[in-house]
Amino acid sequence: MTITFVGHGYVGLVTATVFADLGNTVHVIGHTQEKIDNLKNGVLPIYEPGLEEMVKRNVDAGRLLFSLDYDGVKESEVVFIAVGTPPMPTGEADLSVVFSVAEEIGKHLQDYTVVIVKSTVPIGTNFKVKELINNVRPENAEFDVASVPEFLREGVAITDTLHPSRIVIGTETQKAQDKLVELHKPIDGEMVLTNIPTAEMIKYASNAFLAIKISFANAIAQLSEKTGANGPDVLRGVGLDRRIGTAFLNAGAGWGGSCFPKDVKALDAIAKENGYNFSMIKSAQDINLEAMELMVTKAKKMLGDVDGKTIGILGLAFKPDTDDMRDAPAIYIIRALLKAGAKIKTFDPIAQENGKKIFKDEKDIVYCDDEYGVAKEADLLMLVTEWNEFKEMNMTKVKDMMKTANLIDGRNIYDPVEMKKLGFNYLGVGR
Ligand code: UDX
Repeated sequence: MTITFVGHGYVGLVTATVFADLGNTVHVIGHTQEKIDNLKNGVLPIYEPGLEEMVKRNVDAGRLLFSLDYDGVKESEVVFIAVGTPPMPTGEADLSVVFSVAEEIGKHLQDYTVVIVKSTVPIGTNFKVKELINNVRPENAEFDVASVPEFLREGVAITDTLHPSRIVIGTETQKAQDKLVELHKPIDGEMVLTNIPTAEMIKYASNAFLAIKISFANAIAQLSEKTGANGPDVLRGVGLDRRIGTAFLNAGAGWGGSCFPKDVKALDAIAKENGYNFSMIKSAQDINLEAMELMVTKAKKMLGDVDGKTIGILGLAFKPDTDDMRDAPAIYIIRALLKAGAKIKTFDPIAQENGKKIFKDEKDIVYCDDEYGVAKEADLLMLVTEWNEFKEMNMTKVKDMMKTANLIDGRNIYDPVEMKKLGFNYLGVGR
């Protein structure tokens, strides 16, 4: 099939590249000349394991075509809208780009096309997109709109796209459904064929559920600390119940990223708009804030006063294997520690440059070349992102380099007994 993607962020670029790899001809439309030129030369705007090679392979094969203009839409059977929907101050998703792109697509339609909204959008957005396209489309062009939400996780985005747990296809007509079933056939995942509002809601409900699940784990961890129970053991014991599952039940320094915080806020806004008080969402957000705050409280507890102390922060990205720092717990934690007078040393294998931009106005941050640089002369070492290299550190060497051997393990990756044996003053989460 010939298809088009408008947008080359995480969702757009990964999905477009996977479809090209499956043998389709894929046009990818962007809006910045520099980024399009870079993509043509295999320079990606994001970091995602395995993606660069896959992009290059498909560009070389002539199946993945990047451009600024919308000409590709004319020959496409399916067009994806995969642009950003950032939250506005009210928490609602900003849909202005989705709508302007929809109009541009509408003007370029030819024959019959299915226009898919892949971006995460509030329930009802597809119908608005349909109206906008209808107003501008050439008279002889036919189209249907569809909702095919995205569930890929950064860091494992290619695998998630090729082997998703499910493919949700929301359509209004049999013709559109048949076309999308055909396009997704080579992808290994169970299909949920439904109507458009249901597909839109599945996306929000899934992300909200996962965020709530992690917040539940963080609440149990806090209670475990107070009662003497071992939080990770409690959660493992709970998660092994097949009805619950151990995934996304790890307590830690809080959830962040480009999706959970934004989608949870948007679902809350949708609920409010529809006169429903979704109190569980509010609690999940509060507990998440507490999880980050607890890292700071623990630092104060260990050091007495953090003012003038050097605190080493391991990891800046909102999770490992990504350079993404959107709503990363590290931002909250570092800002709070700086405000309390601490001096920060930090290292992240991939997100360091993004960190420098975010903290550009902060004086008291030193960026180190590696994890050992962070430990050197530190009064406290705090792990915020569980990168593999941090799991494999030589902890004896780390301890010898530090001024005082204080360790806060924000992702429970170290063995507390072993750490204590090595001489660390250790605090984990829920332990
Ligand atoms: C998420 C969804 O998983 C994905 O389906 C959706 O399409 C986009 O949003 P992503 O944002 O890439 O994916 O990250 P994810 O792996 O879900 O992690 C989100 C956050 O939760 C991270 O900050 C992570 O550290 C945290 N997390 C995750 C926990 O604190 N504990 C867990 O057990 C799992």
